This record gives sequence, C-alpha cells and structure tokens, in this order.
Amino acid sequence: MAQVETRPKARRTGGSPIGATIPRRMTAAPQSDDDNPLRGPPELLGQFGEFGGRYVAETLMPAVEELARAWPEAWADPTFVGEYRAILRDYVGRPTPITEARRLPEAVGGGRIFLKREDLNHTGAHKINNCIGQVLLARRLGKRRIIAETGAGQHGVATATACAYFGMPCVVYMGAEDVARQALNVVRMRLLGAEVRPVTSGSATLKDAINAALRDWVASVADTHYVIGSVMGPDPYPLMVRELQRVIGDEARAQLLERIGRLPDAAVACVGGGSNAMGLFAAFVPDAAVKLYGVEATGEGLQGRHAATMARGRVGVFHGMRSLVLQTDDGQLLEAHSISAGLDYPGIGPEHAFLHATGRARYLGVSDREALAATELLARTEGIIPALESAHAIAALPAVIRELGRDAVVLVNVSGRGDKDMHTVMKHLDPATLDLIDKAEREREAARAALRGAAGEESLIVDGHVLRSERKEGT
Ligand SMILES: Cc1ncc(COP(=O)(O)O)c(C=O)c1O
Repeated sequence: MAQVETRPKARRTGGSPIGATIPRRMTAAPQSDDDNPLRGPPELLGQFGEFGGRYVAETLMPAVEELARAWPEAWADPTFVGEYRAILRDYVGRPTPITEARRLPEAVGGGRIFLKREDLNHTGAHKINNCIGQVLLARRLGKRRIIAETGAGQHGVATATACAYFGMPCVVYMGAEDVARQALNVVRMRLLGAEVRPVTSGSATLKDAINAALRDWVASVADTHYVIGSVMGPDPYPLMVRELQRVIGDEARAQLLERIGRLPDAAVACVGGGSNAMGLFAAFVPDAAVKLYGVEATGEGLQGRHAATMARGRVGVFHGMRSLVLQTDDGQLLEAHSISAGLDYPGIGPEHAFLHATGRARYLGVSDREALAATELLARTEGIIPALESAHAIAALPAVIRELGRDAVVLVNVSGRGDKDMHTVMKHLDPATLDLIDKAEREREAARAALRGAAGEESLIVDGHVLRSERKEGT
C-alpha cells in the first residue's frame, strides 16, 4: 500500500477544459493556513487556504454568483432545511445506521470498526443527499432543467431520481468508457426518465463528462442548474456539496456517542472528488483527537496508470477551482485510472487539498487489486458487498490499525453498495462465473436451434415451450 505524505508544490498551471485556464476572480483574499475554513466567517468560505476560488468563463459567472448568494440564504432558511431533512427521512431512508463489524477486525489486524451504511440509502449511495438538496435549490431559483455529470453512474442515478421526484427534465453526461462499465446505471437513469448523453472525447471518463456538462451549461445557463456531484468545481459548489453531505458525519458522530459514549480515533473514507469523505470529516475536523484518513486510488500502482492526485498531483486550475491536479510539466491534464469509475478523476476537491496541506487529514493509496480483495473480504466477513469505491476505504484499514493500535475505534464510510460493480468484480475475481453464464447461454441457444431444426419449422419458443410454429419454405 502506498502511503502518501507529499506536500503540494506551489505551482500554477492550467488544465485544459472550458474556463479552466482563465482565472477570473477569487471569492476572497486567501486565508492563512491556520484558519479553519469550517469555522471561518461566511464571506471567506469559498477559499480553503490557497485552494478553491471561482475560475469560470464570463458566461457562467452570473449563474455561479447567483448560486453563491442563494445557497447561504437557503441553508439558513428553516423552511428549506426542513423540507430537505423531511425528504431525506421519508424518501431517502435516513438516518442510515452504523453497523459494528463483527468478523472484519480479525482480518485487518484488530480495532473496533463501525461501518457508516450509506449503501442503505435509496439509490444505493451517498450521492442522493447532495442531489435532493441541489434540485430543491434549483426549484427555489426558478430553474426548469437539470444537467449533471456522472462517473460510476451513482450521481447520475441520484440526480435522475431527484428529477423524477420533483418532475423536472434531466440530462446526464457520462463518459463512453463509463457507459460501458456501468451499463446497469445507464438503464436505471433512462428508466427514471433522464436522457443519458455518452461523451467520447478524451479518455471518455468523468473529467470529459464534466467538460461536456460545463459546455451545456454555458449555452443553457438561464434556465438550467448544473448539479455537480462532488465537493469540486467553482465556489460555492465545494462548500455547498460538503454541507449537503455533512449529514453523514453528523449522524455517525451522534450514533457513536450514543452507542459507545465516545468519538472514534479515526474516520476513514474513499476520495474521488471527495464528497463522501468531506461529508464524514466535516463533523470531526474540529476534534483534533479524531484522525482523518482519505483513501485515493493508486490503480495499477504509482508507476503505472492511477488516480492518486494527492501523491502525484500538483497545484493547478481545473474545472473551475484551484486544487491539486494530475498534470504534465506543461500543465496538460494526465489521464487518471481506477478500477472504480467513481474514483477515476485526475483532480480532487479544494478542501481536501487544504486538509492535506495543513496536515489535518492524511491520504493513503489503495490499488485496484487491493480494492477487489477488500470487496470480497467485506462480503465474506460481514455479508455486505460494497461499491468498488467504498472497498478502497476498507482496504486501507490494516494500515490505519497498524498506525493506531489494536484498540482503536475506527469509523469507516461505506459510501455505496456494490451491485453496479458486479460485472467488473466477476471479471477480475471470478471469471469462472462469467464462463458459466456464457456456457449456459450458448447451450440454451444450441437447444433452441436443435428444436427449430427438428420441427423443420420456424417456431416461437419461450423457455422450451413451442408457442407458435410455421412450416419453413421448402420443407
Ligand atoms: C459509491 C461511491 N463512492 C464514492 C464515490 C466517489 O465520489 P466522492 O469522492 O465525491 O464521494 C462515488 C462516485 O461516483 C461513488 O459512486
């Protein structure tokens, strides 16, 4: 397992996508690194130390400014917050429980391990917490159309679900590579009434989907809200998405206090853009005794293809924010890779870059292979099949326990369930299952052909029963 201890080098390069190389305006003067942005005055919150800000094209600035004004107002409005909380309770199924792992500790070197069960949310991941909040806000702003990007498909499904719930049209941009590996989620989005637009440019993954969504937004900004799926993008998104996800940490904190009467020694979560981790961390950042571990994807290893932004990223401007980015010496974006579509992103939210730079959070790396093994481990020890993204957090547990000792109380976020990943998991862990399914399909086809041939007829055969048959010409 790669341990990531690098500090970002101060370097200012631009990424490639729309608006990314055009620094327009920062939301506020940079704070000193001593300032905790979670406690800072509201007008400074768009900036996390040297990270964050608002780097967008001129056409988008009014929409982003409108959001920056509307969001704090909405979040301070008891009617808005009351409606959001009621939907999370009655529709999403919150609070999600914490489950104490019974057999997992033995396999990871000890510890008392509590799993925060975001996999039990409606739609199967944490993403829905953010989507419900943002679509509510879009309605408040009078927007009539929703767009979103998606990687693993979970954010797309959650956005499509929120749009179905509120009766709003929805377009989801998805890299063609991800369309192929997350086909089940494509079907779900379409069934929910969303239009899925595959994106074939670049590496055809999450970053390209974000570029396409930003391009749509430039052209449609008057009536469209862009639901960004993580704590990234221009201010106020990183802050707004964190607040909409902090329900994860707030609930888990209260649940642990009630269950064992103390806070955990560590909170652990995977990081793609970083929303499930920020949602968990937000409740513990002020508690210095609680160690925070983010887990990023080292893919095939740091020498090969990976998505290890903390280990290998440098400061740059990308997707509307200043943060750490995987890039060449010339500031060209590098393609990221992870077996999990949701972690396959060459950037990271600015607040994570800040927590990393100040040393408040540590970031560990987990490879594709380790994540696959952790998927199987959690399935067999606890009867919980995690999303491949969440499996990265599970795979980091041996390193965390080694560091904190066998008596440590560790809270891990299971950000989503694994159904969407079964094809990928089978291909790597259990190719025999795929062979079995293939063989059964071939045998069934052969049996049908034989039946048709024997009857000398064109037949409609369903489950071995001849429902209709016609004599073939010339027989
Ligand atoms: C289940 C799950 N966990 C984690 C992630 C990563 O996103 P984030 O880092 O914003 O939580 C995704 C992204 O699609 C996901 O589907």
